[in-house]
Order: sequence, then C-alpha cells, then structure tokens
Amino acid sequence: MIDAYRALGIEELRSRILEHTRKAYALLRLPDRSRTLDIGCGRGLQTVELARLGASEIVGIDIDHAALSQLQQRIEREDLSSRITVVPHSLYQSGFADESFDLLWEEGVLHLLDDARSFKECHRLLKPGGFLVMHETINWFEGVKEKLRTYGFHHLIDHLLPRHYWWTEYGKPLEKRIRSFRESAEGTAELGELACYEQEVSMIKAAADQLACGFFVIQKTG
Ligand SMILES: C[S@@+](CC[C@H](N)C(=O)[O-])C[C@H]1O[C@@H](n2cnc3c(N)ncnc32)[C@H](O)[C@@H]1O
Repeated sequence: MIDAYRALGIEELRSRILEHTRKAYALLRLPDRSRTLDIGCGRGLQTVELARLGASEIVGIDIDHAALSQLQQRIEREDLSSRITVVPHSLYQSGFADESFDLLWEEGVLHLLDDARSFKECHRLLKPGGFLVMHETINWFEGVKEKLRTYGFHHLIDHLLPRHYWWTEYGKPLEKRIRSFRESAEGTAELGELACYEQEVSMIKAAADQLACGFFVIQKTG
C-alpha cells in the first residue's frame, strides 16, 4: 500500500501556507509565557510552526489518532516534547479547566463543527482578553461574525490570503502531481489511494471563487 501523502508531497504543499500562519501570528500581542491550544491540529505542521515562532506551551487536540501519532513523532524528532503535547480528544470533551489558554488556534476546523457548541467551548477555554485565530473562508467567517459577538468575542483584525490562493498554491500543483503519479503508476492497484486527493482537488477547483480565505483574529471580551 502506498502512502499517497508522502508520494504526492502533500507536506511540502501544505508547508507553503505556513507563510500565512506566521503573518497571522505576528498580529498578536501575547504574554511572555503563553499557553496555546491548536484545535484540530491534525499532523500539526502549524502546531510545530507556532512553537518555532515562540509560543511557550502548546497543546494540539484532535480526534484523528493516526494524525496525532505522526505529530508526536515529529515533536520527538524536533526535540519539542517539553513545549508541545497532544491530546486525543474532541474539542467538545477536551477536559481542560475554564480559562486555560491565552490563544486558541484553528486552521480549517471550526467550519466542520457545530457553531454554538464550538464557540461556547472556545469562550470557556480562553482567558479574558485571550485570542481565537481562525483560518477559514471569508464566506464562512462572514456568516458567523455576528454570532461570535453574541458569544462574547470581538473581531480585531484579519490577515487575508490572495483570492485564489488555495487553488494556485495547493490545488493546482496537487492536480499536476496526481497526473504525473497516475502516468507513472498506471495500471497498478496503487491508483485507488489517490481518490481522496483527487476529490479534494475537484472540490477546490470547482469552488475556487468561494474559497477566498483569511486568518481572522477574535478576542474574548467578556
Ligand atoms: C481540515 S483538517 C485540518 C487539520 C490541520 N488544522 C491543518 O490545517 O492541516 C480538520 C481537522 O479537524 C479535526 N477534527 C474534526 N472534528 C474535531 C473535533 N470535534 N475536535 C477536534 N478536532 C476535530 C479532524 O480530525 C482534522 O484533523
């Protein structure tokens, strides 16, 4: 069985987006010793980047055990065990006490969850004045902006990505890599492994106009 993630260089493509993680992080003013929760961290490229940027203590939470195990291996390889821990739980059952974090970070996760439950939980987990940074589509954010206010958040600032960024920097190069891989591996059983990435490319291509994204910085007000 091939590892399509490796064969297609997904990590290298996903890493390109870290440029924007860095720009969004630079918008924040955090205390010297801050505690961050990366919600739905997955394999955690951005979790490790947040540690490199200086976040003192980071917890990555996700329900995907396989992805967390990849992240754990990376943490050990990069000698970051004293600063990053992983928790195999849902955001809804994180087990953390009220006001545990200065920063909640999420990339491509909250739009998958129930707004009311997740916003309430984010508010509970943040210290007063703490930040919630969301990397989501502008369309989704505009749809929940008012609701966030009613949950005690104040919209501070955005870092917007170029309009077709997810297509030009991720979908399009991935489509090209899948095509070459298919040509080289044609006729073998390995091709089935590509289906989920092909679906992802089709979705991004079809929705490129609606996929304009940004990092939205929200602060807990009350
Ligand atoms: C689109 S992926 C994004 C992963 C990562 N943030 C990134 O940008 O590469 C969404 C992630 O949210 C996680 N997830 C889904 N529901 C969750 C929940 N209730 N609590 C925590 N994580 C969840 C999934 O397992 C998945 O890893």
